[in-house]
Amino acid sequence: MSDTVTSRLPGFHKLPMEERHAHLSRMFRLTPEDLQQLLGSEALQPVLANQMIENAVGTFSLPLGLGLNLQVNGRDYLVPMAVEEPSVVAAVSFAAKIVREAGGFIGEADPSLMIGQVQVSRYGDPTVATERILAHKEQILALANSFHPAMVARGGGAKDVEVRVLPAPEGPRGEPLLIVHLIIDAQEAMGANLINTMAEGVAPLIEQVTGGKVYLRILSNLADRRLARAMCRIPIPLLADFEMPAEEIAEGIAQASRFAEADPYRAATHNKGVMNGIDAVAIATGQDWRAIEAGAHAFACRNGQYRPLSTWYLEEGHLVGRIELPMALGTVGGPIKIHPGVQMALKLMQTTSVRELAMVFAAVGLAQNFAALRALGSVGIQKGHMAMHARCVAVTAGARGDWVEKIANLLVKAGHVKVEKARELLANLPAEDAAAATGTTV
Ligand code: MEV
Repeated sequence: MSDTVTSRLPGFHKLPMEERHAHLSRMFRLTPEDLQQLLGSEALQPVLANQMIENAVGTFSLPLGLGLNLQVNGRDYLVPMAVEEPSVVAAVSFAAKIVREAGGFIGEADPSLMIGQVQVSRYGDPTVATERILAHKEQILALANSFHPAMVARGGGAKDVEVRVLPAPEGPRGEPLLIVHLIIDAQEAMGANLINTMAEGVAPLIEQVTGGKVYLRILSNLADRRLARAMCRIPIPLLADFEMPAEEIAEGIAQASRFAEADPYRAATHNKGVMNGIDAVAIATGQDWRAIEAGAHAFACRNGQYRPLSTWYLEEGHLVGRIELPMALGTVGGPIKIHPGVQMALKLMQTTSVRELAMVFAAVGLAQNFAALRALGSVGIQKGHMAMHARCVAVTAGARGDWVEKIANLLVKAGHVKVEKARELLANLPAEDAAAATGTTV
């Protein structure tokens, strides 16, 4: 692989797809087979799909784009993003360009500590049961680790046992819940299989020690020991745009952050924007994006009120943005070594560890959020979104090739971004243009 990877690729979005491929081929020394993996039809063969899930009847494609300009801890990353929403890749690239001029993102990620939960019932006195479990901690850990010796040899595996006693949901007459947490270092794996095996494996010992009955044995997706963080510090003058003073744009972003901090109705939408970026990279890199989503939203309301995952404030002439959220990712396991498209995405990403990957995810979430708040706190998002949406409308109406952009521009100009209007524009083209515009021959 080349050691000259830069995520700063001016004009990349204007190139035809073949030229983008040529560019990537040079930068990553890709083979023609590698390139085929970028093209949906070759990425996941039906035979593989059939091995991955039951009742497979085909495969399902999404556009794969590259988020540009991203720099985290001084390193450049080209970010593969699989997403259907038109503005997402452009927004990340745009935001990352501004942050890059401000020195880039600073990222950080915790070790890969996950939680396996074991629910114990009919255990008698909760204090006695807790003491018994903790007195057998070493035995429980040894048993858990016996199921994954290879992981232990790599320095991972079960590290700690904790016990939580929770009030009964039915009130004081119900049995308090006794929940054992196995703290497990999943290293480069997301860890679901490892954790579930260990949680199931230690259940008989926990029953024996407590005299109780174990019900659930499963990982928790609230992976709050495995957080990723990113921050950026943007000098306010870099924010000037839309013919508006930079201070006003900065103030709009800080106000948007205050709104989300105060109001869960807004925080949900704020976090949806964050996850627009994170989910897209998660899908492209073969992650369990449902687990990431579940962890993010549970973490967002850890203090009893649903809050934004990222915040923005003004400090000494700078706009400062911070994000923190659980990030249970893997670079091994799941579809990662099976799905050729995922392997290709990881090759482009060039991260060398799951923690590095987690920092990039956090930075992408913060970048996406910045782009949304910048527009929302100033001119609104509809103008930009409509320009992107207009392209989909043009395609739906039958436009093809260069004409997609031309019809989209006419729709925006007319202030009427609707399929009927696009059809009308196509129908009114001179005959020679109409054939080219719709990819048909006369
Ligand atoms: C749309 O997909 C995402 C936004 O609604 C996010 C936000 O409101 O912050 C624009």
